[in-house]
Amino acid sequence: MTPHISAKKGEIAETVLMPGDPLRAKWAAETFLEDATCVNRVRGMLGFTGTWKGNPVTIHGSGMGMPSLSIYANELISTYGAKTLIRIGSCGAMQESVNIRDVILAMTSTTLSTPSRGIMRELNFAPCADWSLIQAAYQASKAKGSTTHVGGIYSSDVFYDERPDLNEQMERHGILAVEMEAAELYTLAARHGCRALAVLTVSDHLKTHEALPSEDRERSFGDMVEIALEAAFA
Ligand code: HPA
Repeated sequence: MTPHISAKKGEIAETVLMPGDPLRAKWAAETFLEDATCVNRVRGMLGFTGTWKGNPVTIHGSGMGMPSLSIYANELISTYGAKTLIRIGSCGAMQESVNIRDVILAMTSTTLSTPSRGIMRELNFAPCADWSLIQAAYQASKAKGSTTHVGGIYSSDVFYDERPDLNEQMERHGILAVEMEAAELYTLAARHGCRALAVLTVSDHLKTHEALPSEDRERSFGDMVEIALEAAFA
C-alpha cells in the first residue's frame, strides 16, 4: 500500500497503461482485459489489473497534469515494480499537418517545468520515450490505418493558457501537439530505468479550433488502448 494506491504488493502488473480519466481506466479494463479486478479506488482514482493475451496488465488513472501523474507513476514504479508505463490520452494539435483523430507517438516532450524540475537545477533535461515502444506502437497504429505522427510534443502545466507566446514558440519549433503529462512520465522512467511512451489522439486543434466529436472519442480511445497493449508486448 502507498498513500494513494491501496493495491497489495503483487496486485500491480509490470505493464501499466495510464489514461488520465479513472472512468476510462475502468472502461478499458472491462473492454480489453480478461479477469480485470479493481485494485485501487483511493480518492476515486481507479486502477484495474487483468490479463491481455495471457500477459498481466494494470490500467490505472493518472489524473490530469504532471503533479498528479507523478504521484501515481512514482508509487507504481517504486513500490509496485512497474517497468513499462504507457500514457494513453488526448492532445491538442499545434501544426496544420496534424488533424483531428490522428495518432501522435511522443518521441520527446518539451516542458517549462515538471515535478522533477527541482533536481535538474540548471540542466534542461530532455525527456524521451523508449525506442522499442515507439517502434512497436508505430507499427500497431499504422496497421489500424491511423494517420500516425512521431515527434516532439509539449507538456504544459496549464489548460487555460495565459501565455499564447509559448504556444507560438512551440509551433515555430515543429512541436506536434500539447498535453499535460508526458514529460514527467518520461523523466521518471529515465530515473528508474523503466520504459515509457505516450500514445495520444488529437482531440482538438489549436489552429483550426476543430474538436473530436464526442461519438468518436470512445473509438479513438479504444484504438489507443490496443496500440499500447500491442506495443508493450511486441
Ligand atoms: N491543452 C492541454 N492539454 C490538452 C489539450 C490542450 O489544448 N487538448 C488535450 N489535452
